[in-house]
Amino acid sequence: MSGLVVVGTQWGDEGKGKITNYYASRADMVVRFQGGANAGHTVTVDGKKVVFHLLPSGISVRGVKCVIGPGVVVDPFALVEEMDYVRSNGIDVGENLMLDVGTHLVMPYHKAVEEAEEKGRGKHAIGTTRRGIGPAYSDRYSREGLRCGDLIPFDRFRSKLEESAGRKNEILTKLYGAEPLNVSELVESMRDVSERLSPHIADTLNTVRSALAEGQNVLFEGAQGALLDIGFGTYPFVTSSHTTAAGVAPGTGVPPKDIGRVAGVAKAYTTRVGAGPFPTEADPERSKIICDRGAEYGATTGRPRRCGWVDAVALRYAIALSGVERLIITKLDVLDAVETIPVCTGYRVDGRNLSTFPRDVETLERVEPVYEEVQGWMTDTSGARRPDDLPDRAVAYLRRLEELAGVSIAAVSVGAASDAIVEFESLL
Ligand code: IMP
Repeated sequence: MSGLVVVGTQWGDEGKGKITNYYASRADMVVRFQGGANAGHTVTVDGKKVVFHLLPSGISVRGVKCVIGPGVVVDPFALVEEMDYVRSNGIDVGENLMLDVGTHLVMPYHKAVEEAEEKGRGKHAIGTTRRGIGPAYSDRYSREGLRCGDLIPFDRFRSKLEESAGRKNEILTKLYGAEPLNVSELVESMRDVSERLSPHIADTLNTVRSALAEGQNVLFEGAQGALLDIGFGTYPFVTSSHTTAAGVAPGTGVPPKDIGRVAGVAKAYTTRVGAGPFPTEADPERSKIICDRGAEYGATTGRPRRCGWVDAVALRYAIALSGVERLIITKLDVLDAVETIPVCTGYRVDGRNLSTFPRDVETLERVEPVYEEVQGWMTDTSGARRPDDLPDRAVAYLRRLEELAGVSIAAVSVGAASDAIVEFESLL
């Protein structure tokens, strides 16, 4: 069996799309197991930037089967739009895409409810991506959701949709004083979308399990990052799914013992989008330098990301949660012009050292990061393709990250281009 899970170890946007896409050329199958159109996975295909939100990043690699597993929540309108978009970029979407029957649907009323909820939170807003993720997962857990398998036959779906949309209109109008959705328009637009998606809908559980049993290379593509995990992230400033490797089993139906190895992706620095504590956030001036050099603007929302330094306390926490065996560091080149690079090695709170990542945001907001300064390399690394191409100081920085993380680094990404990677060890 050769499964490889690729998960984020920070607050998302670590560059998992590019990494998954890189390994996809050696994979037989790529499976998304959680999240939805809140994700924005940017990959470069034939020199062109393509952003995936719902489609697994392996879709651009010919011959790779892509599965959207039952742990994902799918906005069917967004998916159809994305299929058209990737096709217009010369990428084939046909039998290579499977959508599990158990995958929950994000409906326009989920987005409307989220809009109203975020507005209602005022200054305590989470800063969500407004993609309906939280309300769709809420419906799943309160057993009110609609699933891809419900789309067929459409007449049965129609009555389920009318019932759900009717209930949500009550909430929208009576609780939030918002406009109701036009249910018959929604039904009609879903008819078209349903026809487009039907050929891809299948029971994918055996497909994924059989691929593993046959020894095929299966990549499990995570979205967001460990610190946004619903159970272990900086709650409530998190997303609504399990973003750690533990999410693979319920998100695909593969038993934990068969899943395989875990690679954790971390940027050579850290970013965060949306609200919530971020102990190693840089001062606005240095944050802007990283933001500009790293093009740190959300792939889904276009929002500028908050930028800061590597936080080894948070990284060790994420590594332990996912059982990360190897790290992949991305965007090393963004630090090419930083003279000294702060790295947070520990936290202090109330005059005490904290050895573990606090489980409550109130404490996390109060921690003082303890920094060490690592010498920058002040050399362009974007052309590096082999370990020997990297300047000694960049290697020293990576070695220090390995020491602090307790895990070795398998590869380093040095640019957006698909081949801009230095591999120390092959994972697939
Ligand atoms: P939601 O997932 O849209 O509900 O947003 C909840 C939180 O997760 C917000 O802070 C978002 O900015 C953040 N978030 C969701 N998806 C991503 C992502 O793909 N990258 C980075 N942050 C994300």
